Amino acid sequence: MKVLIIGSGGREHALAWKSAQDESVTDIFVCPGNAGTALESKVTNISLDKNNFEAVEDFCKQNNIGLVIIGPEQPLVMGMTDYLQSKDIKTFGPSQAAAQLEGSKTFSKDFFVKYKIPTAGYASFNDYDSSKSHLDTIEYPTVVKADGLAAGKGVIICENKEEAIKALESIFMDQAFGEAGSRVVIEEFLEGEEASFIAVVSKDKIIPLATSQDHKAVGEGDVGLNTGGMGAYSPAPIVDERIHQKIIDEVMKPTMDGLISEGSPYLGFLYAGLMIKDGELKVLEFNCRFGDPETQPILLRLQSSLVELCLAAINDDMDSYNIAWTDKHACGVVIAAEGYPESYESNKQVTLQETLDQDMKLFHAGTKLIDNNVVTSGGRVFCATALGDDLKSAQSKAYNLVDSVNFDGAFHRRDIGFKGIK
Ligand code: AMP
Ligand code: GLY
Repeated sequence: MKVLIIGSGGREHALAWKSAQDESVTDIFVCPGNAGTALESKVTNISLDKNNFEAVEDFCKQNNIGLVIIGPEQPLVMGMTDYLQSKDIKTFGPSQAAAQLEGSKTFSKDFFVKYKIPTAGYASFNDYDSSKSHLDTIEYPTVVKADGLAAGKGVIICENKEEAIKALESIFMDQAFGEAGSRVVIEEFLEGEEASFIAVVSKDKIIPLATSQDHKAVGEGDVGLNTGGMGAYSPAPIVDERIHQKIIDEVMKPTMDGLISEGSPYLGFLYAGLMIKDGELKVLEFNCRFGDPETQPILLRLQSSLVELCLAAINDDMDSYNIAWTDKHACGVVIAAEGYPESYESNKQVTLQETLDQDMKLFHAGTKLIDNNVVTSGGRVFCATALGDDLKSAQSKAYNLVDSVNFDGAFHRRDIGFKGIK
């Protein structure tokens, strides 16, 4: 079988690497992919315009693609799944309507309230004046969020009213997030510990994936600007059996049932970002896709077939799939370009040392090949991921792998996994 993966990040490298392990899979195409996918056996990068759904359809038909996995949120929110499925191409990812859970924070917050899913209190505004007036009525800190997609960067935590005014000015007046900021959500600030809960969902059936925790802030000890994620580990001890069941009962099931009653049953990876405190949980956000970098450590632990899992979900046959994990722990450390998540330089030459250790995998993200040399092309450049008998040994192996990568301006957090070890 042939598989097409849409996207170019570390998540997509991990999806392609994992798909390649299936004997039944002969070829994997990644659109557009990165240097890591280009160098992976059975994997070929293709340069279709992924916004041109007809071109993707033609490619799938000409190459007899048996499964399309859509990695990032943008094509999902734009309706790529609906289009390809309407052309009888087996596609793993939610419909445009269901992807609104990530595509609009107002949509998702209203959905949480309607279906009694625990979340922070909020209000939503379409203009500067009314949002600014609201600031007199709330407590601080508060959280100002651009409504639309902003690559994980559209969330501003404000310690006081002055900071909140600045945030609203940057969103409404400076249009810091473009169209995504034509509406804002102002939300109650929640304290606690975060966890990512990611599952494969097909209508009313769910297969939870291994638990994980991301590190969103750029600086060690979780300080500084929010990023797409600077590293992740799995499993996450904060999600014990009781919390796991609570997430299924209070968050995932009501979401799946709510979407069915709205006429948009879910298919794909469903990711709940949660805040957990004193054994209680609230949803911070939903993502309509696999997390990046959570995918990298989670897939390193997955022993059963990813391709069969996606097909079971598409074919409404989830009961037939047995998911299997290694008991080992996994840790993934993002190596980023100096300046990320703000501006950074690209085209830095990378030197790498090959590792033959099966428990270590260097996933590429913002890289490309020029004359067979790997150069940087993004803010998050690699995710050095490793397995170990416990989190501490996974962490130390991941950092050994980090040390084998060099480019001008490379930086990483040295504390990935600290909350799982403390
Ligand atoms: P979101 O994209 O909504 O998940 O927000 C990105 C990050 O901002 C989260 O992972 C949290 O670290 C932080 N955040 C978002 N909403 C809140 C909130 N209500 N209270 C505290 N932190 C938040
Ligand atoms: N790592 C967070 C995300 O994928 O949105």
